[in-house]
Amino acid sequence: MIEQYLSPSELKRLLSALLVVALFIALMALFGFLVVPGTRNVNRPHAASAVESPQGETGWLDPTDYPPTARQVLPPIDPRTVMTPNPALMARGKVLFAENCATCHGPEGRGDGAAGASLNPKPRNFTQPTGWVNGYRIEDIYKTLREGVKGSGMVSFNYLNRKDRMALVHVVQSFGAFNHGPEDPKALDALAKTFASSGEVIPDKIPVAFAEQQLAAEFQPAPPIPSAASNPILAAAIADPVLAAQTLAGIPRWQEDDKALATAVSIGLPGNGFSPEVATYAPDQWKALQSALAGH
Ligand code: HEC
Repeated sequence: MIEQYLSPSELKRLLSALLVVALFIALMALFGFLVVPGTRNVNRPHAASAVESPQGETGWLDPTDYPPTARQVLPPIDPRTVMTPNPALMARGKVLFAENCATCHGPEGRGDGAAGASLNPKPRNFTQPTGWVNGYRIEDIYKTLREGVKGSGMVSFNYLNRKDRMALVHVVQSFGAFNHGPEDPKALDALAKTFASSGEVIPDKIPVAFAEQQLAAEFQPAPPIPSAASNPILAAAIADPVLAAQTLAGIPRWQEDDKALATAVSIGLPGNGFSPEVATYAPDQWKALQSALAGH
């Protein structure tokens, strides 16, 4: 149909022009989908980590190890001792706040701690009623301490026991002169009931470095093999006595079963502490090696 209006050469030019336009649009779309979203965050300052990691550590282990704590089974607590502030609870809470929270939230809870300066979002200012994600009622702050705030520097503090967390709740509320109510009586009741009805188990926690030490201590060095100095059979068969001793320790029943010994040693050659020529040993040579290894 269109041939009635256009000569073939004009049609060709039209089509190629259309092709160029389509390609251009496709390129722009590609640019818009792939490149533009990636540039959105270029100017945002990098959030510095709240804890400076020591230099020269391996990357995949967390160098900020927790102090070791033994597993604790804590009895239920009387809700009356934690649901409302009392002097002992507040004193405990202030110590905990200074130790765990002030670096970010500031000594007065204004959200101006040094470690919080570069965080995005910023640590909450407890003196103001604005901006709270979970809320500032008792049950809200308790939830924040148990779960943290996703996507922020506010992590879970559930390794503190429940009484300590409640002490912190009251300390946080004490920074703000505004009204923290109205409380939700049902939620408060539920919280009080969980304190009264069940105990709490805080699991063992040991730092990675300590775990490594324990593993190293549990690793038993292999019993040494007899000295090759006075024994020509061993001198010929052993390339590295320590490695060979480890290899032997990994072969069950090698003292009774010379065939098992021959198979296991031959498979690991070279590099298991035995000389490569043992691969050519005849059965009686293996028997001789077996008794030499056993010290007979
Ligand atoms: C590493 C820095 C850091 C430390 C340490 C820290 N916080 Fe926070 N906290 C934050 C940040 C950041 C926010 C803001 C979260 C947001 O706005 O999403 C926050 C928010 C909060 C909130 C408000 C949650 C809400 O509903 O908006 C409470 C309550 C709180 N922290 C209590 C504590 C207590 C108590 C401690 C000590 C046990 C503590 N924080 C330790 C960084 C920290």
